[in-house]
Amino acid sequence: MCGIVGYIGARRAEDVLLDGLRRLEYRGYDSAGVATMQGEAIHVVKMPGKVVHLTEALARTPAPGSIGIAHTRWATHGEPNQTNAHPHLDCRGDLAIVHNGIIENYDRLKIGLIERGHAFRSETDTEVVAHLIEEYAMKLPFEEAFLAALRDVVGTFGIAVVSRREPRKLYAARRGSPLVVGIGQNGEYFLGSDPAALIAYTRDVVYLGDDEAVSLSDTGMETFSFDRTRITKTRESITWTIDEIERGRFPHFMLKEIHEQPAVIVNATRGRLDADAGLAKLGGLKDVEARLRGIERLSIVSCGTAYLAGMVGEYMLEEYAEIPTETELGSEFRYRKPILDPAVEAVIAVSQSGETADTIGAMREAKEKGVLALGIVNAVGSTIARDTDAGVYVHAGPEIAVASTKAFTGQMIVFSLLTMLLGRQRRMSQATGSRIAHELLALPAKVERILAQSDRIKALAKKYIHAQSMLILGRKYNAPVAYEGALKIKELAYIHAEGYAAGELKHGPIALLEPSFPVLAIATQDSVYEKMKSNLEEAKARRAPLIVLTNEGNEELVRIADDLIYVPRTIEMLSPILNVIPLQLFAYHLAVARGLDPDKPRNLAKSVTVE
Ligand code: AGP
Ligand code: GLU
Repeated sequence: MCGIVGYIGARRAEDVLLDGLRRLEYRGYDSAGVATMQGEAIHVVKMPGKVVHLTEALARTPAPGSIGIAHTRWATHGEPNQTNAHPHLDCRGDLAIVHNGIIENYDRLKIGLIERGHAFRSETDTEVVAHLIEEYAMKLPFEEAFLAALRDVVGTFGIAVVSRREPRKLYAARRGSPLVVGIGQNGEYFLGSDPAALIAYTRDVVYLGDDEAVSLSDTGMETFSFDRTRITKTRESITWTIDEIERGRFPHFMLKEIHEQPAVIVNATRGRLDADAGLAKLGGLKDVEARLRGIERLSIVSCGTAYLAGMVGEYMLEEYAEIPTETELGSEFRYRKPILDPAVEAVIAVSQSGETADTIGAMREAKEKGVLALGIVNAVGSTIARDTDAGVYVHAGPEIAVASTKAFTGQMIVFSLLTMLLGRQRRMSQATGSRIAHELLALPAKVERILAQSDRIKALAKKYIHAQSMLILGRKYNAPVAYEGALKIKELAYIHAEGYAAGELKHGPIALLEPSFPVLAIATQDSVYEKMKSNLEEAKARRAPLIVLTNEGNEELVRIADDLIYVPRTIEMLSPILNVIPLQLFAYHLAVARGLDPDKPRNLAKSVTVE
């Protein structure tokens, strides 16, 4: 999820590595480090926080040599601190490794390695690979040891290694996390998780494919598969500018992050589902699973978009885990003196940043009353992640745009996993659990189908750029989606959009409706679809322009809607994960059509650390 840089040639590796890390800072990270080699000595310098802190540390303790690797970390396993920062070493410091991605089977591998005498320094999943290579290298040539270790790994990696066994050779490999090799002048080579890291030195590159590895040395470059079969790679030329590279093919981080959501769903469910058994496995809750069996009431505390994810979670937990659940605004919960019973209650704090003051305050209020405090957080090692008794990381990767999109999706995925876990502790059948699990696994492809409609939704948004106000309607699971869609339109396009439970339309807001007051209604074919159709008729009767979001193949709303958006079908409980995507795109394209910056909306902060 974060950044890798590598170099071998005649320059001071430290200069090239730091320059590359600075080019990768835009991706968001929590720590950084380098490992260089001079002769057979490996020099490792790593720091929590920003690259500038690493630069200062290197000014005090240089890392000599003209070969090295470097890393910016976005923590997934182990808090952001100096010990967990990359590079990581094997027991004897004979090799150093940097890694992007998630080693899914790290815990099983780590247990075996410790049993065989390996001593670990960090809490990360990454470190197991260093010790695996070390173990294989005791009986194999280094290149074979490197590949043998990778074949034992389950999960995703972009990985780079230097070793005292082969002091003038840099190895790298890729599975699910990008790596690109830069071919320099005079026999020098560069490595990056993103072309931005090396474009200052060369535009002549080779992109590694999944399950491909490369060795870089003073005598050349070799690319091969994990069974050591040599492969020929095509050299390409980077034509992009730096600015374009940082956002990839996207004009804004927000659009990039909207399009990352299929991958977020994969990462948030990775290693957490036993679909056939209908079970969710949440390692972060292992220590409190027994206590969770006795929970009879849940309070979800959060703010903004995270609050709306909590509302979706409330519907899930009540319907499928049959646990009475209340979603509360962090800023309200802590001041209304909630009545909580520690014996049978738990509080769930939901937060992308893990630093939102109102959510922290609410969570601490509950903890002071002895209530079990759980976290659903994206930023590893953040305050909420550290202060809760247990929790589940969202694994959405760094969310750069101020307005939350992929983290929201990840939070809803985690709520569905939590619902499965708690439900199967109670009366949810294996068949129901398995149905939810298989639907979760089918979601990424369905999200891709919606993302393919981006240009169509862009054209639709342009029709409404002059709207002064909008009403966004939804029912049951999709009422929170309506609220989130309205929040996105407010945040990004500065249009006064109001999300409303559709059943409330006739209790007041209908007075607003007229031809200049558009309505966007979520009317997918679920348990409240027939009720939604009545709301559509009520809106149409007031001649409000009507945008309707419904399921592919449902043509019965063509006669009433002015515009239609079609989404794939899924089970009602997971429909918010699909239905929010068109609303994110609609809000994004509205903002761009109105000439606004969707990444940095006025007056907003990415993390609201004040009350
Ligand atoms: C969402 O688009 C907003 N940027 C904001 O409402 C945000 O969701 C809220 O501040 C909570 O942030 P958190 O998830 O980091 O706690
Ligand atoms: N999973 C590794 C860790 O938590 C790598 C994270 C990353 O991609 O930066 O250290």
